[in-house]
Amino acid sequence: MKTFEWRDELNTGVELIDDQHQQYGRFVNGFLKAYGKSRLDQRKVEQTFRFLRAYVREHLGTEEALMKDYDYPHLADHLEQHGVLSDWVHEASVRLRKEAYSDAFAMEASSMLVDWFQTHIETVDKRLTRHLVNLAETHQDGRLRQLLKGLLKLSGS
Ligand SMILES: [Fe+2]
Ligand SMILES: [Fe+2]
Repeated sequence: MKTFEWRDELNTGVELIDDQHQQYGRFVNGFLKAYGKSRLDQRKVEQTFRFLRAYVREHLGTEEALMKDYDYPHLADHLEQHGVLSDWVHEASVRLRKEAYSDAFAMEASSMLVDWFQTHIETVDKRLTRHLVNLAETHQDGRLRQLLKGLLKLSGS
């Protein structure tokens, strides 16, 4: 089963977001590993998924707040994509409580939590971070420019 491996293409140049994506990857791997051994420890599976679920909420919330605060023109599209992940995570948590281990669920989880998420970073998230970096570098209000740079911790600045 595929796990969340970091690669250069996933870097967005915004440290705040990159740090969260890497932390997310660690939660995903913790869960996938626990799920693979779930015949041994169901409690551990549910616990790792609870952490992952809370972290997904926190990370999506961070991006959504940035989009709203900085007039992101593709807000609706991005929110729709986040909805796909949130809905899956919600349904998965219900299924995990009711269903025994299955290879099919393991595959589905890795496809959603790893493949879908990495594609989301490389396309949708990077479109957002380009907007934020651009704003932090070109905004006419110097104070806002500095504030945004500090908040985003732009790599290389
Ligand atoms: Fe996103
Ligand atoms: Fe993201």
